[in-house]
Amino acid sequence: MRTPLIAGNWKMNGSLALVERFGQALATASLPAGVEVALVVPFPYLAAAGQALADAPVALGAQTLHQAVEGAYTGEVSGPMLAELGVRYVLVGHSERRTLFHEDDAGVLARVQAALGAGLTPILCVGETLAEREAGRTMEVVLGQVKAVYDALTAEQRARLVIAYEPVWAIGTGKTATPEQAQGVHGALRGCLAAYDRALAEATRLLYGGSMNAGNAAELLSQPDIDGGLVGGASLKVDDFLAICQSAG
Ligand code: G3P
Repeated sequence: MRTPLIAGNWKMNGSLALVERFGQALATASLPAGVEVALVVPFPYLAAAGQALADAPVALGAQTLHQAVEGAYTGEVSGPMLAELGVRYVLVGHSERRTLFHEDDAGVLARVQAALGAGLTPILCVGETLAEREAGRTMEVVLGQVKAVYDALTAEQRARLVIAYEPVWAIGTGKTATPEQAQGVHGALRGCLAAYDRALAEATRLLYGGSMNAGNAAELLSQPDIDGGLVGGASLKVDDFLAICQSAG
């Protein structure tokens, strides 16, 4: 049985005041039993979020990391630094990192390996653009992104990853994938993992991201191969985020 995971990706948004607001809300909220919740906040807020969430059953997440453990990489953040702050999850290969910051499959693999080396749980983000979907290349692109990482990992390493399918055309657009579209890709992802190991496929959590909100979360999360959500815009609003967490219960 896979534990559902709802992770809120604030991207480059929020404030210390919002961290405090979420800390208070999540400490007193009646989150559904058996659902894991994570807040993935910008680097500057990680320490404050760790303190604000100390009394809440919520994990801390980071939005990326550098592949080196230390060195002359001005502006970058390493896996060990994140681990020191109590971070559990780290997004790797988010489409905005791939497109805006030119992270290719090799760079994504290096960051996954760095996260594993620091004891973090990578959330490997994959997804196709609208042009790739309209060209009928969705499975080729998405499964290719998974294989570029999984082919290079050991069985033990593969077992530690979470995957987030985020169709690029659904991110921040309000144009959510239909449950059937999302399940279609999630089912193919599960099949791709089964080629490595059936137990791996059964155990790996596959999150959906792309305009998930309080209104559509329940139907998306009811799909057999959708094990949670990676939520952007709706994760910045306490009530909406809590409603999505409730939908996962
Ligand atoms: O990482 C989650 C994000 O890409 C989805 O954003 O605003 O479409 O929920 P949004």
